[in-house]
Amino acid sequence: MYMQQTSYDYPVLCRQAQEIIDADPFYVPAFSNLSALLMSSLPDLNWAGFYLLRGNILVVGPFQGKPACVHIPEGKGVCGAAMAADKTLNVPDVHAFPGHIACDCASRSEIVIPLHRDGKPAGVLDIDSPEEGRFSEADEAGLAELGRMIDERIVWEMP
Ligand code: SME
Repeated sequence: MYMQQTSYDYPVLCRQAQEIIDADPFYVPAFSNLSALLMSSLPDLNWAGFYLLRGNILVVGPFQGKPACVHIPEGKGVCGAAMAADKTLNVPDVHAFPGHIACDCASRSEIVIPLHRDGKPAGVLDIDSPEEGRFSEADEAGLAELGRMIDERIVWEMP
């Protein structure tokens, strides 16, 4: 089981994320740089990025990591389950999660944060780690705060 020595400084991460979004709130540049920020800031990750809702399918969006599955049907995998339940799913052991979709076989734990556009489901932020039990309650709270900021500030239409 993963033992984090100290919790990550999420207020700093959120300020950096806000600067990224303020530089250009359109989702393509913002999500691209947010993926890079997460991947380069948070220790022990192998994938960080976005799935975006198109119709009733989640489509892969900007991310960092190995190439991933392109489509996730409604309710499937950790991503689809988090979106259907409209709540953060923190999965300490992906092998114990029924229906987990393995994109990178190195992934051992995963956290998925639902995103919203005008209060309705718009996609998810998905973060994977090669360490079992990587994401603590502090990670969950910090990433949920990041999700709320994304919901408030992202522009979904080409300006
Ligand atoms: N594991 C996810 C699929 C996406 S990859 O982790 C990038 C899931 O079960 O929904």
